[in-house]
This record gives sequence, C-alpha cells and structure tokens, in this order.
Amino acid sequence: MADLHAATEVDGVPLTVNGTPIVARKGELLIEAAARAGTYIPHFCYHPRMAPVGMCRMCIVEVDTGRGPALQPACMLECTPDMVVDTESEVTKKAQDGVLEFLLINHPLDCPVCDKGGECPLQDQTIAYGPGESRFVEEKRHNEKPIPVSELVLLDRERCILCDRCTRFAKDVAGDPLIHFVQRGSSTEVSTFPDHPFASYFSGNTVQICPVGALTASPYRFKARPWDLDQVESTCTTCAVGCRIATQTSRNEILRHQGVDSDPVNWGWLCDKGRFGFEAVHSDDRLTEPLVRRGEALEPVRWSDALGAVAGVVSQVLAERGPTAIGVLGGARLTNEDAYAWVKLAKGVLGTDNVDCQLGDGLPPELVLGTPRATIDEVCAPGGTVVLLAPDLKEELPVLYLRLRAAAVEHGVRIVEVSSLPTGLSTYAAARVAPRPGEIGEVVAALVAGRTDREVGGVAPEALAAAAALLTEGPVTVIAGRPSIAESPVAIVDAVAALLHGIPGTRVLSALRRGNVHGALDAGMAPGLLPGRVTLEVGRDRFADAWPTVPAGRGLGATDMLAAAADGELDVLFLLGVDLDDIPDRDLVARALAGARLVVALDQFANGSSSRADVILPVAGAGECDGTTTNLEGRVTQVAAAVTPPGTAQSDWIVAVELARLLGADLGATRPADLWAELEHVGAAHGGVTTEVLRSPLAVDGIVLPLADPAPYLAAMATPVSISNAGAPVTAATDAETTDDDEAVDEPTTSSGPALLVFDPPEATPPTPVDSYSLRLVSGRQLYDDSIVVRRSPSLAGLRADTVLRINPYDFDRLGVGVGDEVRISTNRGAATIACHPDGDVPRGAASLRYAQPNLAVAALLDATLPVTDLRVETVG
Ligand code: SF4
Ligand code: SF4
Ligand code: FES
Repeated sequence: MADLHAATEVDGVPLTVNGTPIVARKGELLIEAAARAGTYIPHFCYHPRMAPVGMCRMCIVEVDTGRGPALQPACMLECTPDMVVDTESEVTKKAQDGVLEFLLINHPLDCPVCDKGGECPLQDQTIAYGPGESRFVEEKRHNEKPIPVSELVLLDRERCILCDRCTRFAKDVAGDPLIHFVQRGSSTEVSTFPDHPFASYFSGNTVQICPVGALTASPYRFKARPWDLDQVESTCTTCAVGCRIATQTSRNEILRHQGVDSDPVNWGWLCDKGRFGFEAVHSDDRLTEPLVRRGEALEPVRWSDALGAVAGVVSQVLAERGPTAIGVLGGARLTNEDAYAWVKLAKGVLGTDNVDCQLGDGLPPELVLGTPRATIDEVCAPGGTVVLLAPDLKEELPVLYLRLRAAAVEHGVRIVEVSSLPTGLSTYAAARVAPRPGEIGEVVAALVAGRTDREVGGVAPEALAAAAALLTEGPVTVIAGRPSIAESPVAIVDAVAALLHGIPGTRVLSALRRGNVHGALDAGMAPGLLPGRVTLEVGRDRFADAWPTVPAGRGLGATDMLAAAADGELDVLFLLGVDLDDIPDRDLVARALAGARLVVALDQFANGSSSRADVILPVAGAGECDGTTTNLEGRVTQVAAAVTPPGTAQSDWIVAVELARLLGADLGATRPADLWAELEHVGAAHGGVTTEVLRSPLAVDGIVLPLADPAPYLAAMATPVSISNAGAPVTAATDAETTDDDEAVDEPTTSSGPALLVFDPPEATPPTPVDSYSLRLVSGRQLYDDSIVVRRSPSLAGLRADTVLRINPYDFDRLGVGVGDEVRISTNRGAATIACHPDGDVPRGAASLRYAQPNLAVAALLDATLPVTDLRVETVG
C-alpha cells in the first residue's frame, strides 16, 4: 500500500476509518481510500477498472457523515470531509453476515469441485466475514450446466452472484455487449442473445474477474487447483502491446495466463489470443532436435553436427564471396538478448549488414525509431487528437484497441481514422476518411494543409474538412502501421512526414504488430542500423572498439535479400522464427529458397520455411526463456521462463554463441544477463537501463527507452521490490487486489541522446495511376488467422474463419454474380477462386481479402515490388 502521508500532501479530504485519521483524494471512493490506508473492505461487484454499480452490497460499512451512523456501500460513496467510517462495528458485521447468507441461499456449496475453489473471493469472504452456518434448509436452485456462452467460456449459472462484472466488462470495456442479465428478481440470470454467442476477442477477461466459479475458460477448466500452480510474472509477446501476464504452470506445463494490471499498458486486460495462445507451446508439433536435409529427407542429427555443418558452409562462403553473401531474416519473436546475440554474430562477427527482423510487411526502421515517440498513455490522454494510420487495432493489437476505445468513450479523445476500410475503432472515431488504397499519403497531406475544397484520393471535400478541423485541436499523436499488406509503406511514410512537418509537436506510436519487433529494431536488426538506435555511420567507431568487425556498408532489407537469394547473390540465409508462407510475395520466396545455397531455420515448429530449409534448429519460445522484451512504446519489460523447452531445443542466443565459437569468435555471454549488460553498455538508447534498474520497484511497469536518468530507480532499490522478476511469485489481477494504480509512479522524463537515429522524410511519392480494369486490393490481418500460434492452439484453431472477397455493391453488380458465388481473382503473381460478397464499407474500385486465413494465402497474390497490388476479378465459367 502507498504511504498514506503521500496522499496527505496532494489532496485533502480528511476522514476517519476505524478510529484512524486518513486523508483521501478529492473524489476518491471510500473503498479505494480505505484500501490505500490499509483497510480492506470486502466486495464482489466493485472492480478498480470499471465504474461502480453497487450491485452486491458486500462493501456496506457504517458511515457517519454528521447525521448519525448509517450503512453505506463503500464502492459508491465518495469520501467527504470528516466522515467517520467503521468497517468492523457490530452493525457492519451483521450486515456483512446478512449479505453473505443471502448470496449463499442459492449458491451451491461445491467448492471442492469448483474451478474457482482456492482462489474464490466468495469462498474467502464467507470464511472471513460470513455467518459460519446457514439457516437455509430448502432445496437450492438448479440450472443446466455448464452452458457454453462461447467457444472459450462456460457458464455455471447457479454459482452466479449477479455482480454485473462480466456484463459490464463486455459492454463498457470491450464494447461487445453480447452478455446481459435477463429475467427479473430471483430469476435474474446472465445470458447471451439467441444465436449470438459471446464471441468477443476479450472474453477471457470475464472469467478472470468473475468473483465466483460461474464463468470458466474451457482451456483451463478442471486442469489444476490454484494451490498446485507455480507462477511467474512475464510479458505477453504474442503482439507488440506487451501486456503483463502471470504465467501459471504445473509439472512443467503452462496451464493458464492471467492478466496483471500494468497501469501504463494493459490495465489487467488480455486478449484471448494472448491469454490462450500458450497451448501452442506444448503442441505435439514442436521441433525437439536438429534436422539436416539429406536429399529430400530431413534427418535428426546432434547439435554439434548441425552447427558444424552450418559453420563449415558459412566459413566457405565468407572466404569465397565475403559477408554480403550471408543474410539474417526475422527475429521479431526473439527476446532482446537473443536479438542482440544474433546482431553481434551477423554484423560484428560475420560482417554482414543483410539483417532484417521485419518481413516486408513493416515500416522503415527510421520512421519507427527516429520520430518523436508517444506512449500509450500519451496517445490516450484526455483532450488529444489521434490520427489512425494503422491496421485494424482490434485485430492486430487488441489491448491497444481497448485503451483507445476507453480514451474515446470516457475521456473525449478525438480519433481521426484514415483508412480505406472501417476498423473496430470506426464507431468511436470523431472523423473518418477512406482514401483509395495506396493514396493515404495525398489525403493526409491535404488534411494537414487544409486543402479541403476538392476531392483528394477518393475522399469527398466535406469528409476532408471535418477531419482537417479536428487536427487543429489538442495535442496530435499518430498511430502508424500498415493498414494493408497489399500496399507498400511509402504512402504511410508520406502521411507521417506530412503530419510531422505540418503539425508541430506531433508524436508517433508505432503499430507494428510482431511481438518484439521494436526490441529487435532497437538491437539493430535492420539494414543500416547498429544496436541502440544509431545508424551504421554514426555508430561505426563505437562498435569497431566493441566488436571484432563492423559491416562495410548498408545491407539489404527482407525483400531485397530474398531477391538477391533468388538471383544467386546471397548464399546463406538464416531464418529466425520466420514462416516464409507469411511473407508477402510467395513467388519471390520460392525463387529465393531455390537460389540460396544454405537455408538455416531456427524455429519452434515445422512451418512453411523450416520444411524447406537445409538445416532446422529447434529453439525455445515464449514461456521458455528468461530475458527482456520491448513493446511498441519502446518499453522494456522482463520475460520469464516458466517451463523448459522440449527435447534439446535451445534459446536463440545460445545458438548464436555456439555458432560464433565454431567460427572462431567469442560473443562473451554465458547467460542472457551478460548480453543485456553489453547491450546497455554499447547501445546509446539502452544506456542506464541496467539489470538493476529493471529490477527497481519504480520499474514495475518497465522502462521506456531511452532513460534520461537512472538515479531515481537505483535510489528506490532501498525499498522492497513489490513485483518479482523471473521465478518469483506474483499476484494476477483477479480483483481489486490488482496493482494499485494510485501507486503508479510517474516515469522520469526521457530524452533522445545526441547519436540517436532521426527520421528524415523522403520526398513524397506521386500517386499510383488507377487501373480501371482492376480493383485495388486491401488486405489486413484478423486476430484468429492461420498463424502458427492459432493453428497450434486447439482452443483457438477452430475460431479461424475463411476469407471471402468483399467488393463495393457497385462493382459487385457490374460483375453480374450472385451473393456468395465464386469468382476468379488474379494478380501478376497468382490466381485463386473465392466466394464474392457485396459490402458497402468497401470503397468503389477496391477489394478486400483477409491476409492469412485457412482457405486463401493472399501472400501468394502479392507483388512486393509494387506500391499497391491490383486484382482482376472475373466470373467463373
Ligand atoms: Fe458476476 Fe460471474 Fe455472475 Fe458475471 S457470471 S454476473 S461475473 S458472478
Ligand atoms: Fe498479448 Fe497483444 Fe493480446 Fe496483449 S494484446 S494479450 S500483448 S496478444
Ligand atoms: Fe460495493 Fe458490490 S456493492 S462491492
């Protein structure tokens, strides 16, 4: 609990709780002020991240506001001066007894077989505050059980205490009002609408916050008892939001992820992909031993043989063709320590700058690292305007979507959405403009310049004017990503450049999706970069002292690397967690694989790349590694190993160290902390963020790079650490006993160091001419896509849906087909047959396909060399 005196200085509502004077903050609820002062008031419906409703009455306490003592619900009562509160009086106890007796009238006493038993607030509070015995001897209510309210959530109705937490969460937090109370009085119950399951991307949160065992998650139900679980705090790396999680295990198996309340990041919430995707870790398809290709077959070998074979070819290529014939692709799933080890091996030992952690579907690293960056809190600060130049955040960065939705709905943040297709946030946007695919740059330039008297990029003047007016209000932040993988990023670069130039003070939050892509970029996993957000030129001298060598010049990015391999100019290709099937432009990928002499895949699963590699090295994944990760804000947090990897799988950094050793170099690391220490030492952006600083109580929510002053963090080490690092137990955010946001400490201000990369916007590119015989393709991802995590998680795999072609009704009518009829689609890269539907949300002249769904690999249709892929649509037969 925070020091009460801290509150005294700031606020000033004096009151007395159980005879002790305390000072509450202005407007603070009694339940919160009492908690800060160390007095726990029992409750069920109150949740610190939702508006109070006063449903359960468990929090009633005796309060005297000057008119004599009376029972009041502490979760609904704002503190007023000189209030006298007694949470332990006989009257209070009698009331608590009564509430619990009432709640238990119909609640089955099945704690021994209930999933919540052992971690159940109703069980705990009945023991602590309840009457001890029940006077209720009648038959209890019986219900059908369990009722699947969705594919992931089950409802045992007779356990429900009608606290309204799940229903409030669904409606107020997730914006998915798919569960409600129905009936009245003693018949009231939670229900879905007929034929509408609780199909929310955030449904698992309701299970976590349900104060009884009424809601259970199918992946965990009856798997373990809480007292049998080991628990470590870590970070979800399924996407780049970096939500804090508690990973719970039993007998070397991950059984559950619970959200942990990180005030600047996830507020305790998780998306279902992050929550349940752990199932993939224990998939039968995990690679467990190195494989080497002999003819057509992949044969298991010892690590020493596999690495020896790789080192032999690499040495030969180095001698014959030099370092530029070697490339390293991928790395966004690695920890920061893994990433640094591989950068040091590639750039500092081999001397190649052909390194790219993005796979041709990202943004230029200069834009991600070199623009003034915003945190999630800054984007969501009341009074601001957010320009969305991003994919559908609900699909790709789900908890960022929750934060933005809350900012718009509750804090009046104005969202200006610039996107060809509507997204999950369109409903909450103050203005929305829908440029023709590929023309987002011109549209944003017009908005910034106030050129709203004529149509630009397919957007009508009125829509432009409405959006432009909002850009003059409040601080402006931009969320920048790739709205469509079928478009090159140049239009986004132009759009961000226009905003930075035209609106002083604009800050940027990256919407790159992959788990640790930002940490990998910070570690230098991009051509032309060195660790610490410096360019090759600027950092050359510094790294020449620290490393055996430094690349002679800027290397190739992902697409150029593949093209070089296809042309026989790149002999060795390392793939770090890359599914080549996921890369836009499969034709290029196929030619690259055919052209490279040696393809080495480090992966957890056999996938599109590894099955075509010459050497496959099994590596550890999420939940199996200690280290750090970096989210889209540049926030470094810890990840913790909860289980051991299967078979002989190794961490990626160990593979780099071993390979370097075989090539005659020493990476100087025997554990991840060695690599972080070196990165902190050599990386300009990492300076000061030592392991010690990361363990400081002030760093409980991580540290945003670069850190201006580590001193406060080190000074705070004198106080006990409240949140553990790897291996120590933590408390998941099941209830009001979450991390108390009142205790959150302002992060020290950060500043860009002099040597850090600065975004230098290129000249704006001219618009691509419209091909009137084709439709411009828009392709974004869906949360449940055909990725390995979803495919290998049995609970999520069935949630994938096939994609269909969606086109404007005008274009649809011209085709002359029926709704759902199959059509033939083709590009200069490939063709497919797919069902076609009219959709008024798709602009005329455009076509929408989801990127990676089970029935269609859009990657096979894309031409990565074009600014935008055009699609021809023809009737079949
Ligand atoms: Fe509350 Fe759980 Fe019932 Fe929902 S199902 S109202 S969270 S007790
Ligand atoms: Fe994990 Fe991203 Fe979901 Fe958060 S939003 S739980 S980081 S996948
Ligand atoms: Fe206050 Fe439920 S009425 S916690």
